[in-house]
Amino acid sequence: MRVLGIESSCDECAAAVVVDGALRGQRVASQIAIHARYGGVVPELASRDHIRKVVAVVQAALAESGLRLEDLDGLGVTAGPGLIGSLLVGVCAAKTLAWTLRKPLVGVHHLEAHLRAVYLEAPSFAYPHLGLVVSGGHTSLVRVEGVGRVRLLGRTLDDAAGEALDKVAKLLGLGYPGGVSIQRTAEGGDPQALRFPRPLPGKRLDFSFSGLKTSAAVRLKREGRPTGQALRDFAASFQEAVVDSLVKKTLLAARVEGLERVLVAGGVAANSRLREKLGAAAARQGVEVVFPSVALCGDNAAMVAALAEVYLAAGRDDGPGLDADAGLAW
Ligand code: KG4
Ligand code: ZN
Repeated sequence: MRVLGIESSCDECAAAVVVDGALRGQRVASQIAIHARYGGVVPELASRDHIRKVVAVVQAALAESGLRLEDLDGLGVTAGPGLIGSLLVGVCAAKTLAWTLRKPLVGVHHLEAHLRAVYLEAPSFAYPHLGLVVSGGHTSLVRVEGVGRVRLLGRTLDDAAGEALDKVAKLLGLGYPGGVSIQRTAEGGDPQALRFPRPLPGKRLDFSFSGLKTSAAVRLKREGRPTGQALRDFAASFQEAVVDSLVKKTLLAARVEGLERVLVAGGVAANSRLREKLGAAAARQGVEVVFPSVALCGDNAAMVAALAEVYLAAGRDDGPGLDADAGLAW
């Protein structure tokens, strides 16, 4: 099927064309430059920029694919969860296109779309598997039996992993988004230099990152902002604590659920230390791990189109009644 996907749940305005499970064209308009000076996403600025960009990204993705709007078999759009103003722009654009073109439209769950990204590169990755979704807004472990068959096993009780990285990066005076700048600063740092807590030990499958973030904030307040090697050590030690939590709970969940495959998705899945440590620890446990390529970890519309294609092929059409839902549950 020829499917156009639109993503606008947070600070990326993106469109992509997927044809029979393969990516044919995509455009991501990042808002990093707009939000950088605030050290985080400003919802009102995000939605206003989506309005400015959405038509252009759709045109660019279509042009790259060599298809025209009339050639499409259907459309997909992120319906939630996310920032309501941002979501509404994508949903409105997709509904308008679907209605004027008389094509079916599917509203997809943003996190399920993240989990689908890998299928553009590894179409035969088998079900069931464990999904670890780590982004700026979410940190969840899910059991995935198939498309539309996802069961939540555990989640963060407070901050998301990416949010903790972003906040501590801000306190350290590093660039935005924080995950990437912490990773870069951590290179050449000693991950064992400082001792940060590993929250929620024990058997529960939930995460908690706010205590870890607070312990970093308290240390910075007490000792001042580090520079040079001390800064690299701080970043490496903090990143290590976040990664250790993710690795430990993911492998625990795989054991508890009896799953031999793990799929990692979301912006933080781009983290090189997470890739390295989870890959090695999983191999020791006999568990296979896949990550999407770095370009498909962050928000994009290829994952939206790829997931929508599966629903459209099953005959689903959400039609003009589709609405954005900021708190859309699994
Ligand atoms: O999935 P995503 O693009 O947007 C959301 O749905 O939230 O994830 C964004 C998050 C941000 O917190 C960002 O700091 C983090 O992903 N991130 C990273 C890396 N690249 C992006 N975190 C750690 N290491 C990275 N290389
Ligand atoms: Zn996301």
